[in-house]
Amino acid sequence: MELRFLGHAAFALSDGGTSVLVDPFLTGNPRAAASADELDATTILVSHGHGDHVGDTVAIAKRTGATVVAVVELANELGGEGVDVRDPNLGGTETFDWGSVKLVPAWHTSTSPGGTPSIACGLLIEFAGTTIYHLGDTCLFSDLQLVGRGREIDVALVPIGGHYTMDRHDAVEAVRLVGARTVVPIHYDTFPPIETDAQAFKTDVEAQTASQVVVLAPGESWSS
Ligand code: NI
Ligand code: MN
Repeated sequence: MELRFLGHAAFALSDGGTSVLVDPFLTGNPRAAASADELDATTILVSHGHGDHVGDTVAIAKRTGATVVAVVELANELGGEGVDVRDPNLGGTETFDWGSVKLVPAWHTSTSPGGTPSIACGLLIEFAGTTIYHLGDTCLFSDLQLVGRGREIDVALVPIGGHYTMDRHDAVEAVRLVGARTVVPIHYDTFPPIETDAQAFKTDVEAQTASQVVVLAPGESWSS
């Protein structure tokens, strides 16, 4: 499978036939690697209600017919715009022919563009035999270690930009708690408040944990 970084916290997962988008914030994203109207999707996963994560979800879902997965209050709002939704809450798993997604905790706020309060989530994704943990927007908290317990996480997508999420120093401890084989830093350098040094994060993680860091520029991919 291929995991393509689209900038900020947005990804496209593909295995040839199936394309799953995560947090497709493209319009208004100064580092977007694609435009919303050129992306295909069978499913769109949304970690929480903030505009830099919901992004172009409704437009892409309407054009492609993709099913949207989001926490129940957010799913209700998006469903009201005429797209097909699945509406789990924390701990819930949604299964598809490509695999599954489970909503797991993230410590962060979440009010959607339509004004609906909900809770922010992380996404534990099984896609084409690869386990991907998108941490969403979160600060450091000890229960991160529960998410990967009893399973092997192949790749963790970890926010490092600070200000709205954990910074690159707390993210090193988060990586230790999560224990993924590969780590891709996200949610940095998109806007001035979240500028940081991804190469320093890589150096620190690889000196202090067993994880390897792959820094992807927007548009670049990681393959399992
Ligand atoms: Ni957020
Ligand atoms: Mn965000």
